[in-house]
Amino acid sequence: MTLPFAPNHRVLFVGQTQSGKTTLFKRHLRELPSAVIFDVKGQYRDVARPTSDPRQIIPLLKAGHVKVAFQPPDARPEWLNYFCELAWNNLRRTTLVFEEIGAYTSPGLMPRRLRDLVMIAQGEPRKLGMVFLNPRPTGLHNDLLSQVTHVFSFSQDNRNDVGRLCAEYSAGMSVVQELAPFEFVHFDRITKKVERHQPEGK
Ligand SMILES: Nc1ncnc2c1ncn2[C@@H]1O[C@H](COP(=O)(O)OP(=O)(O)O)[C@@H](O)[C@H]1O
Ligand SMILES: [Mg+2]
Repeated sequence: MTLPFAPNHRVLFVGQTQSGKTTLFKRHLRELPSAVIFDVKGQYRDVARPTSDPRQIIPLLKAGHVKVAFQPPDARPEWLNYFCELAWNNLRRTTLVFEEIGAYTSPGLMPRRLRDLVMIAQGEPRKLGMVFLNPRPTGLHNDLLSQVTHVFSFSQDNRNDVGRLCAEYSAGMSVVQELAPFEFVHFDRITKKVERHQPEGK
């Protein structure tokens, strides 16, 4: 399998904590020519050049580091806003990755710059792809859920989460209830295909 990365794609990984989202995505990171990661938990040090100074993101990219992991110094939402603003104003032809994005959005809250980025139309000159990872779909604002083009879901044991996935994407997503550990489902909203995948090696 290769992941469906393209500038007009918005890829969402969901599944209960420890279900394998980050591992799967990191295994496929090399398929991306460039990525800038909002790395809230410092999990990308081994695959990207880390920095906790947001002013270093652009210089590191310019110096030839094609994968940069920004580790915000603390959990304040200002860091997400800063990151989105920086991407909006300066980044082109890369993939923005948002780990644990549910810490910054909720059904009633969508940071304005994040919304702007997610809403950028296909063919827009910035050519920014986006990847979002979060345990629960119910923690995300509808403006994000509705713009997603590809969903990767690991097992979800919460009925509300399963219901939200089915309601937003496809009734076929109900299979997420019966997934074995590290098994996942890929729903492509462009082709409307739901595919079940056996676990990839660790
Ligand atoms: N396919 C797999 N097979 C075996 N172990 C895995 C697999 N994917 C992930 N793991 C292990 O499960 C744990 C949780 O994985 P992680 O990707 O961090 O989950 P999540 O991001 O969903 O919280 C890690 O210890 C990881 O090494
Ligand atoms: Mg994770």
